[in-house]
Amino acid sequence: MIIKTQKPIATSEITDSLVFKRRRQIIKSLLAITGAGVAPAWASETKPLWDNLTQGDFSAHDLTPTPLELIKNYTNYYEFAFNKEDSTDLAQHLAIDPWSVEISGEVEKPVRLHLEDIVRQQTLEERIYRFRCVEGWSMVVPWVGFSLASLLKSVKPLSTARFVKFTTVHQPTVMPNQRNNAMLTWPYTEALRIDEAMHPLTILAVGMYGDVLSKQNGAPLRLVVPWKYGFKSIKAIVKIELLKTPPLTTWNQATPHDYGFYANVNPHVPHPRWSQNSERQLGSHFFTPRRQTELFNGYGEQVASLYRDMDLRHFF
Ligand code: MTE
Repeated sequence: MIIKTQKPIATSEITDSLVFKRRRQIIKSLLAITGAGVAPAWASETKPLWDNLTQGDFSAHDLTPTPLELIKNYTNYYEFAFNKEDSTDLAQHLAIDPWSVEISGEVEKPVRLHLEDIVRQQTLEERIYRFRCVEGWSMVVPWVGFSLASLLKSVKPLSTARFVKFTTVHQPTVMPNQRNNAMLTWPYTEALRIDEAMHPLTILAVGMYGDVLSKQNGAPLRLVVPWKYGFKSIKAIVKIELLKTPPLTTWNQATPHDYGFYANVNPHVPHPRWSQNSERQLGSHFFTPRRQTELFNGYGEQVASLYRDMDLRHFF
């Protein structure tokens, strides 16, 4: 993982709408004020039990960001379409202002917060992460976001909180597949174990490539969990619930044999219909060999301890 103080690339992926301009301003000024993570937010905190994990100087490799041009029309957003190009176009209709997020369940202080207030209260950092889709392609993305743990701690999780569930917005008027109830159960939901959610690598992103998130990439707020397959990184989040028991999640519910709850990147556990041994890097030359997929997407040093008691040959 790389945490940078400077924003690298200006994006052209911004609409003219006022809300994007306002959020862009807030994000840019916060990045400037905070020094964008010179000292990671978690570094100085007293750690609760669930944070008893490896932290520190992570040196992941080949972290040259994938050109934005390649990413912006290559998105999975099934509420809009089952192909990548159409979902990018259709996602532009999503209404993202105003946007609020409910945080509830096993917490002392349930709240509903405007996104702007969340962003102001959090320390924005740039995180350059590898991203591996279960379909067998990968990219490197400079996200702008904040620690999920920091947000969760602000509502004081109860000791009964064992899982964290995330829900995408329900906007059937603009999301055609929600209207038709096509293929999946809507709204899209995902979940993590509480220790996964509290891990320092887990972030909520509000931007990428130094600017606000584009709508097709999950604006205005999405999850990013870099050691898991991309479908865990749920977009357009409106609700975060802390729960006692594991919730059903969209893909796991639809096809449990194909898409497990954990979905940790693992080259040794194939998808029922294809190998997960290697990946095509977006932007790589046609003749470039596929990249060897790494266990936990290369973040094993940081996260393997979370799964100490699990037989990884069986968990997907
Ligand atoms: N979130 C929602 N709400 N709906 C989706 O269809 N697709 C997932 C994930 N988050 C999806 C979602 C999948 S399958 C992947 S691979 C990533 O988003 C893709 O993120 P990207 O489009 O920003 O590359």
